[in-house]
This record gives sequence, structure tokens and C-alpha cells, in this order.
Amino acid sequence: MNNHQPGILELIPQHGKYLFYDQITGGNAVDCLRQLADVADGVGVVVGLGQSLVLELGAEVPGLRSFPARSGAGIDIPSTQAALMCWLRGDDPGELLHRARQINALLGEGFVPSDCIDTFKYGADQDLTGYEDGTENPTGQEAADTAFVAGAEPGLDGSSFVAMQQWQHDFDAFSALTTNEADNSVGRRLSDNFELEDAPESAHVKRTAQENFDPEAFILRRSMPWSIPELDGGLFFVAFGKSFDAFEAQLARMIGDEDGITDALFRFTRPITGSYFWCPPMHDDRLDFRALQL
Ligand code: HEM
Repeated sequence: MNNHQPGILELIPQHGKYLFYDQITGGNAVDCLRQLADVADGVGVVVGLGQSLVLELGAEVPGLRSFPARSGAGIDIPSTQAALMCWLRGDDPGELLHRARQINALLGEGFVPSDCIDTFKYGADQDLTGYEDGTENPTGQEAADTAFVAGAEPGLDGSSFVAMQQWQHDFDAFSALTTNEADNSVGRRLSDNFELEDAPESAHVKRTAQENFDPEAFILRRSMPWSIPELDGGLFFVAFGKSFDAFEAQLARMIGDEDGITDALFRFTRPITGSYFWCPPMHDDRLDFRALQL
């Protein structure tokens, strides 16, 4: 299977820019999407559509839904669903800016920007807390099996469902933790990434251990750190899957749905956005909009 947007499988770039759009009522979404297909190669620009846009086009993508707001004890998981998302990937932030301006211009008749998040690679694929992120990501064929719909009809085969959440860290709260407390919150040692077998049940990697779900809940994470001039920052969490089910199962455990134990990550970080998108496959090196009858 080689009909997916290739940027999804590639390792995270040095820089990323996430563009989110709402639809303009009475705008010309169809023409805009056709033009977007001319510039989105699935590598430098990965595209995802929200449920409202797919419905507006009179289409249906089985399994596509909007991001559900959730709550756990003392925890709110917000939904900030958008209609359209473009993930710009590259090494040069200046070049990404110009690409973003080009995309904004060509979408102008149908969409209005609702959010824009700049992300970057930190160290050796680390979160801004210093912990390595992505260690237990599936690789090779397993990554493709995890991320893409397989065996479906043309137009759906090779597509992917992506969950995105901007998490904002409380760096003061994190710094106040002892090394031991921080390691036990993640379930790995900061110094050498060693997985702590005796970590508490609240440890993040215990909450999310992918093979400990029934069915197993594998996701392909492509998260990147973000920061703004006011010195706020955190992790822009991105998880691709052949459905949203694995992500939802993990998030449910993180907020204590099953046993009342909440993920210790919440001691120092919170999600401030949340959205779901369907990433169409590629056909003849173009975005494949056949499922949308475009
Ligand atoms: C600010 C938010 C988050 C941070 C800082 C964070 C950080 C980490 C770190 C450091 C690891 C260990 C290394 C690795 O395997 O990647 C990890 C593992 C993992 N995280 Fe997160 N994470 C966050 C949010 C989430 C969310 C929202 C989910 C899913 C709902 C999630 C799912 C996972 C999974 C599946 C693993 C691998 C578990 C395993 O199979 O061992 N993470 N995360």
C-alpha cells in the first residue's frame, strides 16, 4: 500500500506549522479544495478534513467524527474542532511562512483561518520537559498498519484519522517536582529513558501502554513542541490511526475513566485544544478526493 500522504510516515521535521480553518458560510469550499490539491503534496503539506466539511460536501467518511469534549476528576479536555487542517513540514521557518501565506490566499474564498501553531524539533525528539517522546512508536510496516485504513474502497484506502491536541505545560509545576517524582509521572527515567517497571499506576506510560488494551491500542505519534514569545509552551500532540478508537481508549485511561486513576502528566500539563481530521489518501501524486466526489 503506497497511497497515503507520505509526510505522515516520515520522521518529524525540524519545523512545523499547523493551519486550522473554519468554513465561510456560502463560500466556495469545493474550488478551494481543488486548488489545495494542486499544492498539497502530502509531504510538505499534509491535509485533513473535519466532519463538518465532509458533511457540507454531501459526503460521508465512515468513522469520521468531531473531537468530543471530555472530563475527569479536576480535568477538562476541550474540543476546538475546525473544518480543515494543513500541517506544513520543513526545515526553514521562513519558507513555511511563505507556504502558509500561499495556502491562506488560495483558501480565502471558502475558509477563514481559526488557529496557527508553530512547532519545532527539540533535541533528540524530546518533549520540552526533556523526556524523549516517541520511543514506543511503531516503525516500518507496523507504522503503516497502525496509521492507515487498509483494504477499503478506492478513495478511503490509505487514508488516516488524526487526533490533535495542544498541551500547555506549567513549567514551574514541573520544575517543582523532584527527579524521582517527574520520572514516576512519566514512567521513564529522564537521565537515560529507561522504563521504570515499578512506576505507579498513574505513570503516563502505564496509562497508555499500547499492548495493554483489548483490543491493542496502537497509534502513530508525530507530536512536536511549541512555544510562543510570552514563554508559554508545551507539546502539540498528534496521533495518526486507522480510526480514532485507539486514541480515545488511551485518553479515557488518562482521565481515569476505568479506575479513577488520572495520568500523572496532568500535574504539569493540560490540553487547551482538541480536534479530529480525516487525511485523504493520494492518487497519481495528488490528494485523492474521490470519497468526497470532488
Ligand atoms: C503533554 C502531553 C504528553 C506528553 C508530554 C507525553 C509524553 C510521553 C512520553 C515522554 C512518553 C514515553 C516515550 C515514548 O514511548 O514515546 C510517552 C509515551 C506514550 N504516550 Fe504520551 N505524552 C503526552 C500526551 C499523550 C496523549 C494525549 C496520548 C494519547 C491519548 C499519549 C499516548 C502515548 C503512548 C501510546 C505512549 C507509548 C506507551 C507505550 O506503549 O509504552 N500521550 N508520552
